Amino acid sequence: MENLIQDIDLLDRNSEEAQEVKTSKEENTGKQKKLYIESYGCQMNFADSEIVTSIMKENGYDTTSDFANADVVFLNTCSIREKAEQTVRNRLNHFNAIKKNKPEMTIGVLGCMAERLKEQLLEEEKVVDVVVGPDAYRDLPKLVEKAEDGLKAVNTFLSREETYADISPVRLNSNGVTAFVSIMRGCDNMCSFCVVPFTRGRERSRDPHSIVKEATELFDQGYKEVTLLGQNVDSYKWSEAENNKAWLEKKEKKGEEVTVVNFANLLEMVAQVSPELRVRFSTSHPKDITDEVLHTMKRYENICKYIHLPAQSGNSRVLDLMNRTYSREWYINRVDAIRDILGEECGISSDMIAGFCTETEDEHKETLTLMDYVRYDFSYMFFYSERPGTLAAKKYEDDIPLDVKKKRLQEIIAKQQGISLERNKMDVGKVHKVLIEGTSKRSKDFLQGRNTANKVIIFPKEQYEKGQYVNVLVDDCTAATLFGKAVV
Ligand code: SAH
Ligand code: SF4
Ligand code: F3S
Repeated sequence: MENLIQDIDLLDRNSEEAQEVKTSKEENTGKQKKLYIESYGCQMNFADSEIVTSIMKENGYDTTSDFANADVVFLNTCSIREKAEQTVRNRLNHFNAIKKNKPEMTIGVLGCMAERLKEQLLEEEKVVDVVVGPDAYRDLPKLVEKAEDGLKAVNTFLSREETYADISPVRLNSNGVTAFVSIMRGCDNMCSFCVVPFTRGRERSRDPHSIVKEATELFDQGYKEVTLLGQNVDSYKWSEAENNKAWLEKKEKKGEEVTVVNFANLLEMVAQVSPELRVRFSTSHPKDITDEVLHTMKRYENICKYIHLPAQSGNSRVLDLMNRTYSREWYINRVDAIRDILGEECGISSDMIAGFCTETEDEHKETLTLMDYVRYDFSYMFFYSERPGTLAAKKYEDDIPLDVKKKRLQEIIAKQQGISLERNKMDVGKVHKVLIEGTSKRSKDFLQGRNTANKVIIFPKEQYEKGQYVNVLVDDCTAATLFGKAVV
């Protein structure tokens, strides 16, 4: 056990460094052509790759896990930080070498980098044949054909309506237990550091009936957990009226009230699919998260008690420059509401940016004291990376030297490590309900899953199986993982 703990800890530390990348798996349903797709960035991008795969499948492509066998290679890219784009450029260089011996292979760049750089990508990266932004995936088969005919194939049109609501995603890296369901696209906030509003366009919500249908189908296929995805799930809003004028007129004639589905309503609808289906969601925005959502979470045992609530900074002046539209006090008020309504056990995590423009040492310290106050279970932590075209790039000088940014980031990481360990220690000696997601990465004799607060728990396999709920008595922990044994 001791060795296992050390190994896993090492694995977790390393994965902090490594950028997550997902690749398509081998599938053979007798289709003519092969698609290889590699995805970077956030869960929404991974979810989009499943939509892309579905569209390509309809058009004669099976997926492959080996790009050397592929007719078409797609990179679904991320622009959030400079490093993310650099990773993709390095990857394109690699594909360039392969394409020299296989000129008939079509290479496409999708996602946020495609949207940000548009045609420029075709000129800069000689190897790229197709460039398609996040709202134009329905056009992919046509664009691939165009590229095969030697024509320029670019579509970076951003839509106000597209939600791909009718497309059933092909689950790519699935464990068969947990799945992501996209509930909205785009973002209408204008955080000054962030490229997403430019790469993903305006915010729009997906028809709740199609979301419930997808969750129900997943449950029927044996899935036990769905995570509802959006850049700002709390501003989810859907009304039949906006999408169906004839329906609205009929309602008005009868004098009936027009109902709007908000995020709390949607959560409830999905939670009612089955008490055996866990519901998670991400990301909550501190300015928008309501008590109604917190009360809905409390009412349903199967809505997981975990909230990803990115603070970005603990200082009100910096938050103002970031255009987050809340202050430190507002943020603390929301955390207090979570603790009041859902208690100490509710998991809370954050994203933090170190060294934003003009941040002073004292202001940085306020990020550390906010972390002490909230006691996050976990955080994603970054140093500020200026993105071309964003409000901050236009208005503020990126004036914090890299070594200072890195030093502040290290302090934030060290602080989080300490708090994570403390929070995990609070879980030792308690029994947790775990949904088993599969065997542990390091040992086939152990299983792993998560508790309601999103903490990873590892325990001996015994007779238990993937997809089952099991009660685990936790007896040990590191800052990243809980360890225990199943109890009846
Ligand atoms: N919609 C989510 C965040 C999406 S981006 C939200 O509002 O919280 C994920 C995280 O990347 C952000 O929370 C932020 O911490 C980080 N990030 C975004 N732009 C960044 C930049 N220019 N430099 C460093 N980190 C950045
Ligand atoms: Fe970016 Fe802000 Fe939108 Fe999040 S809420 S995606 S940080 S603009
Ligand atoms: Fe990256 Fe785009 Fe997501 S920039 S974080 S892939 S929305």
